[in-house]
Amino acid sequence: MAEHVIALDQGTTSTRAIVFDAGGRIVASAQREHEQIFPRAGRVEHDANEIWTNSVWVLETALAEAGLSVAQIAALGITNQRETAIVWDRRTGRPVHNAIVWQDTRTQPAIDRLAGEHADYDRFADETGLPLAAYFSASKIAWILDNVTGARADAEAGHLLFGTPDTWLVWNLTGGSRHVTDVTNASRTLLMDLRRLEWSDAMLEVFRIPRAMLPEIVSSSEVVGEVSAVAQLRGIPIAGILGDQQAATFGQAAFGEGESKNTYGTGNFLLVGTGERIVRSPHGLISTVGYRIDGEPAQYAVEGSIAVTGSLVQWLRDNLGLFAESNDVGRLAESVPDNGGAYFVPAFSGLFAPYWRPDARGALVGLTRFVNRGHIARAALEATAFQTLDVIDAVVADTGRSLEELRVDGGMTRNGLLMQFQADILGIPVVRPEVIETTALGAAYAAGLATGVWKTLDELRAHWREGERWEPRMPGDERDRRIRMWRKAVRRSFDWVDDDARILMGTTG
Ligand SMILES: Nc1ncnc2c1ncn2[C@@H]1O[C@H](COP(=O)(O)OP(=O)(O)OP(=O)(O)O)[C@@H](O)[C@H]1O
Ligand SMILES: [Mg+2]
Repeated sequence: MAEHVIALDQGTTSTRAIVFDAGGRIVASAQREHEQIFPRAGRVEHDANEIWTNSVWVLETALAEAGLSVAQIAALGITNQRETAIVWDRRTGRPVHNAIVWQDTRTQPAIDRLAGEHADYDRFADETGLPLAAYFSASKIAWILDNVTGARADAEAGHLLFGTPDTWLVWNLTGGSRHVTDVTNASRTLLMDLRRLEWSDAMLEVFRIPRAMLPEIVSSSEVVGEVSAVAQLRGIPIAGILGDQQAATFGQAAFGEGESKNTYGTGNFLLVGTGERIVRSPHGLISTVGYRIDGEPAQYAVEGSIAVTGSLVQWLRDNLGLFAESNDVGRLAESVPDNGGAYFVPAFSGLFAPYWRPDARGALVGLTRFVNRGHIARAALEATAFQTLDVIDAVVADTGRSLEELRVDGGMTRNGLLMQFQADILGIPVVRPEVIETTALGAAYAAGLATGVWKTLDELRAHWREGERWEPRMPGDERDRRIRMWRKAVRRSFDWVDDDARILMGTTG
């Protein structure tokens, strides 16, 4: 009997395939990075064809590594970087432009224009759960239609399709027969009515996007088709789709109201379940779909999205050359006892939650002759912990309930110094599960639930095991002082992007 599930995790920096057994344990995996394309300041793109090729390669490689045949795989689950927009021609299967990645800020002027034209733009948030921001897919799709020659006419004629990476991959895996996305991904486009879970005609009109381009919205756990286009995987049912952050929440078995997780990857994303209720945040959190099991009501969540955390480590590595591997940031940070007075606000794409300040840009402040590379590495790691604190403060303000501990996962949680500092700054324990590949695990869970590998959420809950725990140790007055310094630094990053900056950078830079 088929008792394994394979998950495809199409992330911002890399694509992974992981084979899990029925106990939720990793049997085999394969991973490949793709190119980050920065055509100019503020722009971030991916080659959708490279993402497709890498996906096929990691799936085939992980399966071979596991030594399993297709018949032993019950289902494929897909999870993906959210909001990233791909537009392709259904006749040729070819993208008409590179994928515009969620961090890309090129559409900020269009967003500003819309905000000016629609005095009632609060209703966008009411309808979609999201603030009007360049982060979400809608303005990126509109940009492609407005800037690629012939695209708008082709879209109106029904030739072009839009999708986030989940949609693009399912379409390719099924040989172009299924054009779908799940509710969690759809909830990140600024185009879905959050209550009805359907595309919103009003939002489509605002962004001038033809409805025919949009995929069908399906549940997160449901058989949507089977693989036909890749020989080695032919016949495997595609049975789960979740945006990466929702998948990580699912993989942490945080299914219920009030349960949460914080993922430390390219950016950081904290999700707290709100059950069947849509909770509106006055404190800068987004309302989003957590997951939906086929035939059941959708489960909602509030989310604190932070654009830059792990990618700041990559920036220190690639743009400053401070070290050769991301892992080395810990050693460099440990070469000094504290940040030496330096604070780093990584507002590279503006600031997301809880500030939502597109006018902010990165700031490294508190510099003196004393500050060295070790301090800068430390300030960069601390920035992740401080940004998380800001988001958790918003959660507490919204829910009136403090967190007892923080469940964490993602690549940056390998960094013990950061995890200890996080516990210190929050004043609560930080807990990491045994399996830190929770994103892939969540997609596997969704797919396995739809195909009978697992029957209930409680069965999945029983898989969760504590791996490591960090207890807070910093005295309260020191903690408060550092937090006040951080907030001062955040204010220094505001009001940077103005007309001068735009003209000098040639974009929204
Ligand atoms: N030891 C470390 N200390 C600090 N940061 C680290 C360490 N190792 C990896 N990172 C950072 O973690 C991030 C990778 O984490 P992870 O693998 O969870 O992300 P990812 O899932 O690949 O991201 P995405 O899904 O967005 O592509 C990178 O940004 C990297 O800089
Ligand atoms: Mg990821």
